[in-house]
Formats: sequence, C-alpha cells, structure tokens
Amino acid sequence: MLISIIAAMSLNRVIGESNRIPWYIPGEQKRFKEITWGHAIIMGRKTHESIGRALPGRTNIVITRQQNYSAPGCIVVCNLQDALENCPLNEAEAFIIGGEQIFRLALPLAHRIYLTTIQQEIEGDAFFPEFSPTEFKMIQLEHIEAKLPYTVAVFDRGVSASH
Ligand SMILES: NC(=O)c1ccc[n+]([C@@H]2O[C@H](COP(=O)([O-])OP(=O)(O)OC[C@H]3O[C@@H](n4cnc5c(N)ncnc54)[C@H](OP(=O)(O)O)[C@@H]3O)[C@@H](O)[C@H]2O)c1
Repeated sequence: MLISIIAAMSLNRVIGESNRIPWYIPGEQKRFKEITWGHAIIMGRKTHESIGRALPGRTNIVITRQQNYSAPGCIVVCNLQDALENCPLNEAEAFIIGGEQIFRLALPLAHRIYLTTIQQEIEGDAFFPEFSPTEFKMIQLEHIEAKLPYTVAVFDRGVSASH
C-alpha cells in the first residue's frame, strides 16, 4: 500500500490558523476530493473536528490519544500504525490528510506527497514540515492561475525507499 500525504500550504508553509484552513479555493478542494475519493484518509483529531463530519466516499480514520473518542462514520485509532493497519485490505493508496502533528508523524513513512502551494504568504499557526529534496523528487508540477494563484506538485520518495 502506498502511503501518500496530501496538503495545501502557503509560501511560508502555513496550513492552518485557529483550527481552520485560512483560504478557500474551490478548484483545490475539488482536486483533493478527486484524488482521495474511494480511498482511506487518515487525520488527526483536530483536523477531524475542523472538518466537522466524516467525508463521504472515503474510509475516514481519526487518530487520537483519547480513549472512547467518538467520531461518527469514522474509524478511531490511537496511533499512526493502527491507522495504517485499519485501512481496507485492498487499499492501494492511503492518504494522510493532516494536520501538522500527523504530517510530522507520517513524513518518515510517506512514499508520495501531493502538495499545493498557494503563491502568497499567509498568517497561521499550523505548518507543513520541511522535507528533504534529496529524499523526495518532484515528478509533477502545474501552475494554476486563479484569484489566489497556486501550484500543485507531486513528490515521490527516491528509489531507495521501501514501497
Ligand atoms: N492545509 C491543509 O492541507 C490542512 C490539512 C489538514 C489540516 N489543516 C489544518 O491543520 C491544523 C490542525 O493541525 P494540528 O497539528 O493542530 O492537529 P492534527 O494533526 O489535526 O491533530 C492533532 C491531534 O492528533 C492526535 N495525535 C497527534 N499525535 C498523536 C500520536 N502520536 N498518537 C496519538 N494521537 C496523536 C491528538 O489528538 P488528541 O488531542 O485527541 O489526543 C492531537 O491533539 C488546523 O488548522 C487545520 O485546519 C490543514
């Protein structure tokens, strides 16, 4: 199973502010939905609460240290390993969808990163972690002209990683 991270950040790596995403880009949301549709999506408890519901058409997996945490329509687990083990048996690609804490946990295990970069500095309090350009190679890059212009890139871990 491929472990992929999917995230959107600003030029200064902001992904969130006060437990929400500080921009609204319809095309970017559509892309997120298309890429993750039908797959397992793994998220931290704060991101789940920020979304406010289970996202349809996907196996929602929420990571929390709280015992008895209830998240209707979601599988609740207490660590990343359990999250990966709770993906459907035939899952080809599982998506880590945030937030910062879970991106940091998942980065060492990730095979692929789908990264949108909004071409502007934006204030926030949650960030996408730095990753090494020697570990991850950009395999796709597209510039999107919009009210808030952004790029969408895909990075794959080098061949030395175990897939
Ligand atoms: N732009 C994007 O792509 C994007 C995507 C997703 C989220 N976001 C933003 O990111 C922000 C949220 O990120 P965040 O870092 O504050 O929170 P988060 O990663 O979504 O969730 C953090 C929570 O996950 C649980 N957790 C973390 N590490 C754990 C571990 N090792 N074992 C078990 N449970 C663990 C804890 O839940 P408990 O406290 O319940 O134990 C922790 O409070 C929000 O602003 C959100 O809007 C942005």
